Amino acid sequence: MANEGVNQGRRRFLVAATTVVGGAGVVAAVVPFVASWKPSARAQAAGAPVEVDVSQVEPGQLIRVEWRGRPVWIVRRTEEMLDALPTLNPRLRDPESELETQQPSYARNIHRSIKPEILVLIGVCTHLGCSPAYRPEVAPDDLGPEWRGGFFCGCHGSRFDLAGRVYRNLPAPTNLVVPPHMYLSENLLVVGEDEGAA
Ligand code: FES
Repeated sequence: MANEGVNQGRRRFLVAATTVVGGAGVVAAVVPFVASWKPSARAQAAGAPVEVDVSQVEPGQLIRVEWRGRPVWIVRRTEEMLDALPTLNPRLRDPESELETQQPSYARNIHRSIKPEILVLIGVCTHLGCSPAYRPEVAPDDLGPEWRGGFFCGCHGSRFDLAGRVYRNLPAPTNLVVPPHMYLSENLLVVGEDEGAA
């Protein structure tokens, strides 16, 4: 009887163990996926660089990617867009990109980028953090005849040109931020890493 009790107990244990193993099997099937996904998610949050093939970006088009949880805009500017940039200087707060915190040194030029046609910006307004709208049109009714294309922040009306340079006398105090970036090849852009950080 005592053995029977032991056997009963052992059977109950085996059933329980089998159930647990079965449960662990299910967990094990799920965990590898989660485990392989988590580091990537953590790495993204910590700032893992993002690679973008810019050959897919049409002239005048803006595409968005995410880096460190923030929107990054990539715009392929047309010749007309680039030609308009120096004409806007008198109306801008920091036309020469003198404030060093707003871009890496290789983007301290009139187009604020490595390749003149490819603009890379953090899409967050430097006033209170809204995400401005891309408004590439020239002289649309709502932005007026002087508008040469750029970004308009609907939260409090700040305006930026197509290099992310802020217009004077508006709430945003500084130009939009150019994140660190570099090219691995003609069209392969890396956002979040540059020669200095590599
Ligand atoms: S957040 Fe953009 S103008 Fe205020």
